[in-house]
Amino acid sequence: MRILLATHNPHKADELRSILGTLQSVTILTLDDLPSRPVEPVEDGATLEANAYIKAAEIFAATGIPTIADDTGLEVKALAGAPGVYSARYAGEGVTYADNCRKLIAELEHVRADDRSALFRTVICYTDGDRTLLAEGSVRGTILPKPRGAGGFGYDPLFQPEGTSRTFAEMDPAEKNAMSHRGRALAAMHEMLAPYFDERQ
Ligand code: IMP
Repeated sequence: MRILLATHNPHKADELRSILGTLQSVTILTLDDLPSRPVEPVEDGATLEANAYIKAAEIFAATGIPTIADDTGLEVKALAGAPGVYSARYAGEGVTYADNCRKLIAELEHVRADDRSALFRTVICYTDGDRTLLAEGSVRGTILPKPRGAGGFGYDPLFQPEGTSRTFAEMDPAEKNAMSHRGRALAAMHEMLAPYFDERQ
């Protein structure tokens, strides 16, 4: 049985693989394992749930392979939940992770240290045509005024999870997975999928 992860992002693929790779009799593929790009879903949903579903459903329809897609947003309290569902394009279309981090630093420039709380939230959707499952994971933390660390991706150098003194970019991947929004969402999805895959063996 194959599951296709709807991503080209190697960081995400590693994170997804390390948690879902333990499922019985499942081979995990990513979009890079396909001979051509199946479709380019337009992520124009108003919520993370809608976008995760759009991605999973369109890619499943194009490939016929049971698909998992995720959508993540960083919800900053002092910015009324922004960038949220717009996290990938916070600084504009086609921007880099560094551009988005710079914009976030600028937006929070005058915000006090004790008012910089944020929630990283991931929604994961699995669909195989018969069954559609949604799982969510989140982690609370603080947005730092300056980036720290060279690991991870995206907003990792600015995000310090609650209860730690390091950013996600200062952790090794296993440590990040154990407490991250995506790690938690994947663990929840793993639980939902395990009996299903056992049934179909
Ligand atoms: P996506 O829609 O799931 O790709 O996530 C939207 C944006 O959130 C990405 O472009 C990244 O900038 C950011 N992002 C997603 N996951 C993470 C993460 O684990 N750490 C830091 N930033 C992330």
